[in-house]
Amino acid sequence: MCGIIGYTGVRDAVPVLLRGLARLEYRGYDSAGIAVHTDRGMATRKLAGRVAALHDLVGRLPLHGMSGIAHTRWATHGAPTERNAHPHADCHGRFAVVHNGIIENADVLRAALGRSGHVFRTETDTEVLVHLIEEAGGDSLEARVIAALEHVVGTYGLAVISADEVGKIVVARQGSPVLLGVGEDEYFVASDASAILEHTRSVVYLDDGDIAVLTPTEYHIIDRDSHVQLRAVDDLAWDLDEIELGDYRHFMLKEICEQPETVRSTLRGRLVFEDGTARLDGLNLTPEACAAVRRIVIVACGTSWHAGLVGRHIIEALAGIPVTVEYASEYRYHRQIPLPGTLTVAVSQSGETADTLEAMRAARAAGSPVLGVVNVVGSTIAREADGGIYLHAGPEVGVASTKAFTSQIVALALFGLHLGRHRGLSLEAGQEFVCGLAGLPPLMVQALALEPEVQRLAVRYAEASNALYLGRGVNFPVALEGALKLKEISYIHAEGYPAAEMKHGPIALIDENMPVMFVAPRDQVYDKVVSNMQEVRARGGRIAAVTTEGNGDLSALVDQQLRIPATAHLLSPVLTAIPLQLLAYHVSVLRGCDVDRPRNLAKSVTVE
Ligand code: AGP
Repeated sequence: MCGIIGYTGVRDAVPVLLRGLARLEYRGYDSAGIAVHTDRGMATRKLAGRVAALHDLVGRLPLHGMSGIAHTRWATHGAPTERNAHPHADCHGRFAVVHNGIIENADVLRAALGRSGHVFRTETDTEVLVHLIEEAGGDSLEARVIAALEHVVGTYGLAVISADEVGKIVVARQGSPVLLGVGEDEYFVASDASAILEHTRSVVYLDDGDIAVLTPTEYHIIDRDSHVQLRAVDDLAWDLDEIELGDYRHFMLKEICEQPETVRSTLRGRLVFEDGTARLDGLNLTPEACAAVRRIVIVACGTSWHAGLVGRHIIEALAGIPVTVEYASEYRYHRQIPLPGTLTVAVSQSGETADTLEAMRAARAAGSPVLGVVNVVGSTIAREADGGIYLHAGPEVGVASTKAFTSQIVALALFGLHLGRHRGLSLEAGQEFVCGLAGLPPLMVQALALEPEVQRLAVRYAEASNALYLGRGVNFPVALEGALKLKEISYIHAEGYPAAEMKHGPIALIDENMPVMFVAPRDQVYDKVVSNMQEVRARGGRIAAVTTEGNGDLSALVDQQLRIPATAHLLSPVLTAIPLQLLAYHVSVLRGCDVDRPRNLAKSVTVE
């Protein structure tokens, strides 16, 4: 998943494109490029590496122009080299294209175009697009693009410029997110709003099949038959400082530290103590519909899947509805067994993860209503779902998800409470849970205060090449999440496991070199977790534990205890996750890793 941006207007496009590209870098960061209409024709600069390096290259080889396109890449087809970097040009350099997505029939098209004399210079799937546009007839760039796309199978968010129509940018969307920015005498195209927020708050989200034509004086949207399409102009609610680093060294640390505030905004206006329930107007579910739900299927990927696992415990406990949590990438190809009363919930920070989107579409095709638990407003999952819950956690820039995880758990808790109160959960139990939720933010501040202790532990983990995270019940998913965070940003191989499951295999890995982290708050399975600690200790394992303040002393068993404040059992993951996020962060810093741009990853996975 790459980031694309385009500009046409009255200003020099180059600084606008480079600044926007830097904000899109979390979408992919292995190579970058820019193409601009200069007064001496179209000019391109591209390289393997970061946007900052492209900035330097443009500094050495300046180019200027009032319209252009740019790209930051996450390689799918062809290694991250200068040659494979976007923009790609046709045989005669008349057209330049940037693309986010995958052209599934690229090989077939490449062979056919090769036979009719086109010369390919890259290993990418994208290059077929620009040769198709060159090959296509048409008296305008948009006509050529429409004709070219007739042959294409796959996903794309793309922008094209041509040497013949200076100032014009043609944009097309099929499966990958693209939006337009409407400014004063200037227009933008971008993969997401963070790239253009400093210039305008007025955005137009394109739908699949849309073709947009931007010129310095106007924009319009057409479909494949050139019929004009009307799309709403939305107003972005974000503030620029939400996507600025501020005094923090990394976005990940900023987002970890923001969590008391982001959970507060996820709760804002949704807790109704008098009724012991949660107000979730965006669900579009009547009380009757809430009562009629027979099963819930949560579909998600990565950290969102872990939040779904915690959500399952909470929803089953409060609403008594059986919940299954599916890896979206598996579920989308699973045989769909339509069951009346099934409600599907897609959990996604970005709202653009292709596997989750397709799993949601598959569930809908099988007759299930679908809800979205999403952070990014206006994202595809949010727009396609029948209803949902926005996290309101603000933009999450760090590739390793943190604040979205705790807000996802809280959103699913609100959902469980809302359903529960329509299905027999008592007012008292509801009010008690409302108090538990309302009390989380100050407790999270206390959990964040563990940072100095976590930093001490990080020194030991930074030397390790493997690590094991163990938890039980509602905190087993936190063990999974702790392991994922460490893997993602420090490249240490780590596994999360149900603590009892350890005896059935992973215990073979235990020795003095294998750090073992237990997620062990005081709850009904705590004693069982302590026995698992003894089994690890007996084999020379080095143990650290996230446990509850005021809990009996574990120092006989563990090397280091990270004590979080007590809260309602089902909500404890919102607190136990924090020291594990901080641990991964500090280990990554100690190992000199690029915390916000971990290798091989990208923030939203918009391709399969
Ligand atoms: C988490 O740190 C990762 N960035 C990744 O696993 C992520 O959770 C996954 O790609 C799902 O993304 P989404 O929530 O935007 O759908």
